[in-house]
Amino acid sequence: MTTASESSRRGEPSHAFTGISDQNQLNPLFARAGEATDFPLNMLPPGESLPETAYQVVHDEAMLDGNSRLNLATFVGTWMDPHADRLYSETADKNMVDKDEYPQTAAIETRCWKMIATLWNAPDAENAIGTSTIGSSEACMLGGLALKRRWQLARRAAGRSTDKPNLILSSAVQVCWEKFCNYWDVEPRYVPISAEHQCLDGHDLEKYVDENTIGVVAIMGVTYTGVYEPVAKIAEALDRIQADTGLDIPIHVDGASGGMIAPFLQPDLAWDFRVERVASISTSAHKYGLVYPGLGWVVWRTVEDLPKELVFDVTYLGGHMPSFALNFSRPGAQVLLQYYLFLRLGWDGYYKVQKASQDVAVYLAGEIAKMPAFDLWNDGTDIPVFAWQLTKGYTDKWNLYHLSERLRLKGWLIPAYPMPDDLADVVVQRIVVRNGLSRNLAESLVVDIQEAVAYLDALETPMPTEGLVTTFTH
Ligand SMILES: Cc1ncc(COP(=O)(O)O)c(C=O)c1O
Repeated sequence: MTTASESSRRGEPSHAFTGISDQNQLNPLFARAGEATDFPLNMLPPGESLPETAYQVVHDEAMLDGNSRLNLATFVGTWMDPHADRLYSETADKNMVDKDEYPQTAAIETRCWKMIATLWNAPDAENAIGTSTIGSSEACMLGGLALKRRWQLARRAAGRSTDKPNLILSSAVQVCWEKFCNYWDVEPRYVPISAEHQCLDGHDLEKYVDENTIGVVAIMGVTYTGVYEPVAKIAEALDRIQADTGLDIPIHVDGASGGMIAPFLQPDLAWDFRVERVASISTSAHKYGLVYPGLGWVVWRTVEDLPKELVFDVTYLGGHMPSFALNFSRPGAQVLLQYYLFLRLGWDGYYKVQKASQDVAVYLAGEIAKMPAFDLWNDGTDIPVFAWQLTKGYTDKWNLYHLSERLRLKGWLIPAYPMPDDLADVVVQRIVVRNGLSRNLAESLVVDIQEAVAYLDALETPMPTEGLVTTFTH
């Protein structure tokens, strides 16, 4: 027998221990004489089973996952069209790193990042360099590593110490940047957000920057709220710092979401390689790039921005292959899916899909703004993501965690969580609008939020706060 606490110790989510046993059982309807109907959860079964049986067991268990269509917490795409599905199943065997066996997939990867380099206004896409990755986290790590190595090379050439690199970031960065700093021994210098400066906007930058600064991260689409950090303003602050001190500090733009929104919805906003200080940009193709999970992109303005010492020449798969990645083998199919979408949608198609999401986000933000219980943090006009907080003094009977729980009863996943430093006492709730959240679904959601608020408001005693889930993994 397994208790709830044992299950949570072994890292399974709470619903996974409802069976209270260490066995995975096959529904008798699918069982055939002579085959196992019980499978150990954490040990390799001693014998074989029929493919139909194993399929049914895994299929049934996957059913316990949430309904991705109602998941307004994630940025990650969960739907592609039937042609993409066909392509996916035809190409699921391709290994991205094996450019000798799959030269066409490799050529398509290059075409894709060149298209993206042009979309991001690289001065000369032929002289830019890029790669696909498994997601934004790997893409950010590669961007960060290039910053660190460029700084080290310059410092060594000048006979200066390379012991104490630091990176300037908003306190609202995604966890991948904390990992980068931790894994590669770079001191993170967080600029706290505040009511006055709700994101990194270049203020006080001179207090954080010094000769050991490898770069500044600007986020296009802050994970907590969806707002764009003003890349051009940050660059201007760095220009002033350079004029005063001589320090020439590059920017990496983390465009995990905005990298595939801004080129279509805000084409006049200069956030990309039009800003000269921007050395590299990353994005998640599996977010607003509209591809299934497992793909990101990173592009450097010029080949000189990616130190060649970081690029390995791999020969053991046959031929010479440049490799700059944290992984070796990884799926190649997503790259083909990205290319399929580029051909299928083109600029116009991407514009229409992103605009439809933005329209729904702006509609939802507008409806939530009308409710006296809520104060909007932003309105969904950057990436189609927005957050709100409880109006000050509105109630002490319930909070946004309670609202999140009530909405879950209707199947909606809309997380509430505290903001980062210096606003950690502010709790917000966030909606991420992705392709597939139609206006009709959004209208149902508004009704569900209104009903949940009416229910909570009508309570005679406050909601209990014991056992509330008050954390959220961004
Ligand atoms: C701003 C930002 N950077 C990086 C990431 C990490 O992206 P991925 O999940 O593709 O690794 C995210 C994910 O939400 C993000 O919002």
